[in-house]
Amino acid sequence: MTTAAGDRDRGTRAAVIAGIGGYVPGEAIPNTAFEHRLDTSDEWIRQRTGIGFRHFVSAGTATSDLAVAASRRALASAGEHAVDMVILATTTPDHPCPATAPSVASRLGLGPVPAFDVAAVCSGFLYALMLAESTIRSGGAERVLVVGADSFSTILDPGDRNTAVIFGDGAGAMVLRAGNRDEDGAVLATHLGSDGGQADLIMVPGGGSRERTSESASTGWNRYFTMQGKRVFEAAVAAMSESAASVMGRVGWTPAAVDRLVAHQANLRILRSVSYRLGLPAERALVHLDRVGNTSAASIPLALADAAQRIGAGERMILTAFGGGTTWGAAAVTWPHLVSSHSHTGAQDDSLVS
Ligand code: ACO
Repeated sequence: MTTAAGDRDRGTRAAVIAGIGGYVPGEAIPNTAFEHRLDTSDEWIRQRTGIGFRHFVSAGTATSDLAVAASRRALASAGEHAVDMVILATTTPDHPCPATAPSVASRLGLGPVPAFDVAAVCSGFLYALMLAESTIRSGGAERVLVVGADSFSTILDPGDRNTAVIFGDGAGAMVLRAGNRDEDGAVLATHLGSDGGQADLIMVPGGGSRERTSESASTGWNRYFTMQGKRVFEAAVAAMSESAASVMGRVGWTPAAVDRLVAHQANLRILRSVSYRLGLPAERALVHLDRVGNTSAASIPLALADAAQRIGAGERMILTAFGGGTTWGAAAVTWPHLVSSHSHTGAQDDSLVS
């Protein structure tokens, strides 16, 4: 599915990025922390993934806590607190029922706004972004808070070296407002796709309607996250490259015109492969995974929040992601003039649970 904002008969109204914020919990956990209980090493993890550190929630901290902390920073960065809608992308909601977004909206004091979750695993933020962008562009909302938040540590098998070392917890949030397609910060085009025939590549087998709670209660393992890493690697490179190329084509950007590639932070080798396929120099790819690992739906907004002060207004950026489903997506955006610099990603100055 491809949409190119504003290039049809809807005038020049567009969704514009107004604020960004990120949050990671607790202390940075180095690769060496896994060496005593898994057959792995700092060297293997760095060489095969590029990951050096990640953050994990402690018991009692839930995904909504991370989402609220990141959202506060995004709203502060936008310089205005009110929004008309909250969309939360997550694979690790606080509960299977109800959705987590209403709780986030309530705790942020946003009033009785529509609030709902989106489930597209690591592509979730781009799915949520597309929904927010098209809602704003069609006049259905003036301001939307889009959040990607995940606590993958709560579904990882601590004994599975294939997944335990790769993921980290965190949240990223973005405020979008109604504006003009010519403004810095405009979302210019989006593209989404899926292939349910590859659902087995990334899965939590239990805990849903396919495998009933009463049957799975005795076997804790089937609630763990599973991933066929090598096949995911190949599918991720192909889908992100094609999706990114699609939005570049829609907005008429050659590789030379793209200032930044902000790809889902899964693996440094994936970032390099996607850059290469798009004809972009490797240094144009934003790299944040070395410090936080793969934070699933939080990955893209968290990387943007971390780099916010280093990105120049007007820079042309391609966002792209691949995740379970399988799902994928891309967006072409320009970077805004942010009102304030409250986007930082550290854990130090927030009371998490409120
Ligand atoms: N430490 C040491 N050895 C390991 C580790 C580890 N942590 N993990 C795997 N290995 C071993 C394997 O067992 C295998 O050993 P063998 O040859 O004896 O069988 C060997 O390393 C090579 O395994 P591969 O799976 O081929 O390793 P690869 O180089 O592909 O790296 C990885 C694995 C990091 C998972 C990579 O495939 C990857 O990044 N995949 C993509 C992940 C991704 O993109 N995810 C995004 C979507 S996730 C989502 O939506 C939530």
